[in-house]
Amino acid sequence: MRTRLLAAVAAISVLAAASWLLGRHGWGARAAERARPESAAKEAGLNYEESNGKKLFEHYCAVCHGATGEGDGFNAYNLNPKPRNLADRNAMAAFSDQQLFDAISRGAFERGKSNLMPPWGHTLNERQIRYLVACLRTLRESK
Ligand code: HEC
Repeated sequence: MRTRLLAAVAAISVLAAASWLLGRHGWGARAAERARPESAAKEAGLNYEESNGKKLFEHYCAVCHGATGEGDGFNAYNLNPKPRNLADRNAMAAFSDQQLFDAISRGAFERGKSNLMPPWGHTLNERQIRYLVACLRTLRESK
């Protein structure tokens, strides 16, 4: 009788521990991860497209254009012409979204400018380039 009771208590504790672990590291944790990017984006005041674009920008563009897009990435020193200041709102207003899309996809050379601005159409898909255009529209000079 006593051993059966002990076995029952042990079994219940194992079940409880297992469901706690699953909740923490399994389904529950994955659901929390899915929820996080959106709330982080909202905190930064960016919508879904813009925040995805920002991540791509940091990964692919910031080396030359700088983290804030002002043309002062660590690689900018080596380049002539310098990477464009993408945070200059007046200058950027002269570009349509389609022109930005083409500049990113095909590179500046296709637009009669320097081939130091690489074409990204083989690396990034159309959706990612649209996200980048959305992100460029959010850039503002910090000074
Ligand atoms: C290897 C350095 C480098 C990287 C990486 C780079 N760029 Fe550029 N980018 C340049 C340079 C240099 C120019 C200026 C070209 C010119 O004026 O002739 C430029 C210009 C541009 C322009 C203006 C094009 C035009 O027609 O005037 C846009 C838009 C742009 N970059 C966006 C991006 C985006 C978005 C990324 C990331 C996907 C990126 N760049 C990555 C170097 C770079």
